[in-house]
Amino acid sequence: MKNVHDNILSTIGNTPLIKLNHVVKDLPCNVYAKVEYFNPGNSIKDRLAVHLIKVAEKRGVLKPGGTIVECTSGNTGMGLALAASQMGYKCVFTMASKMSQAKVDILRALGAEVHVCPTDVPADDPRSYYKVAARIAEERGGWLPDQYNNLANREAHYLSTGPELWEQTEGKITHYVVATGTGGTLVGTSQYLKEQNPNIKAIAADPKGSILKHWHETGEIDESLAGVYMVEGAGEDFVPKNYDAKYIDQFVEVTDTEALNCGRDIARLEGLFCGSTSGCALQAVLKTKDQFKPDDFVVVVFHDHGSRYVDKMYNDDWMKEKGFM
Ligand SMILES: Cc1ncc(COP(=O)(O)O)c(C=O)c1O
Repeated sequence: MKNVHDNILSTIGNTPLIKLNHVVKDLPCNVYAKVEYFNPGNSIKDRLAVHLIKVAEKRGVLKPGGTIVECTSGNTGMGLALAASQMGYKCVFTMASKMSQAKVDILRALGAEVHVCPTDVPADDPRSYYKVAARIAEERGGWLPDQYNNLANREAHYLSTGPELWEQTEGKITHYVVATGTGGTLVGTSQYLKEQNPNIKAIAADPKGSILKHWHETGEIDESLAGVYMVEGAGEDFVPKNYDAKYIDQFVEVTDTEALNCGRDIARLEGLFCGSTSGCALQAVLKTKDQFKPDDFVVVVFHDHGSRYVDKMYNDDWMKEKGFM
């Protein structure tokens, strides 16, 4: 029997690589998108969720029927909730208040308990979504996957996203471009690709208001650079342990206006209905177009689906009200 599954989890991964035909017309080379919304939870984070749980089971830190507590921008929560529903766990999530209401509702629909925390407080403030998750995990004896500092995050991409891209491009990939948050997608995939061919370049798109680009360029962590921005899922106000500078060649700063409008162009011109970090990643490609040569094979990751952003970047009133249009 073909394409028949025992449960939803075996449909994760093996997402298509789709050529971009219109939004990159000014580039001299081919650009393909790794479209991760084809995963069952509509984002790349499904890959991560199952791997994190399996590693935790093996280490004995997650017991049968236990509770998973995680701070998430929505997509990791979605992956964890899907996996938990089939693997027999409960989920509690904390999210920053800037995240779409749709994401909160979807997680609740999948059976998770969700706590919305203020966006505009520092990461070490007890009200931040990081600290609230840590407190709840302690109170309930839950397991905190900690996608930021748990190296099983980048390992998930080393084991799946990297090999898939290498095989799909038949080793032709020359540039790998991705909007980065925890660093898992960027570093895990890049490590695998660079082990196959050290000349492959890994380029990170960083929202303006994140401290990561400055850290990569200077080695300094300057928290005063942290600001509020609307792109959801990428950028950080600290440097998660999943980062390893040697697997990153370049950071490109992208503003909200650029990322959100680029995301809308992707939907309109390519028929790919993606989230804001897809616009952020493609904008990084467009902003550095002079570095590409005709034989290059550029892959840009589109992390998630646009349905989670219909009340924001795909809503003209919201775009105008925020000054993005
Ligand atoms: C939509 C979206 N894009 C990009 C990222 C960044 O991926 P990573 O955390 O692997 O760096 C995330 C992470 O939450 C995300 O949800």
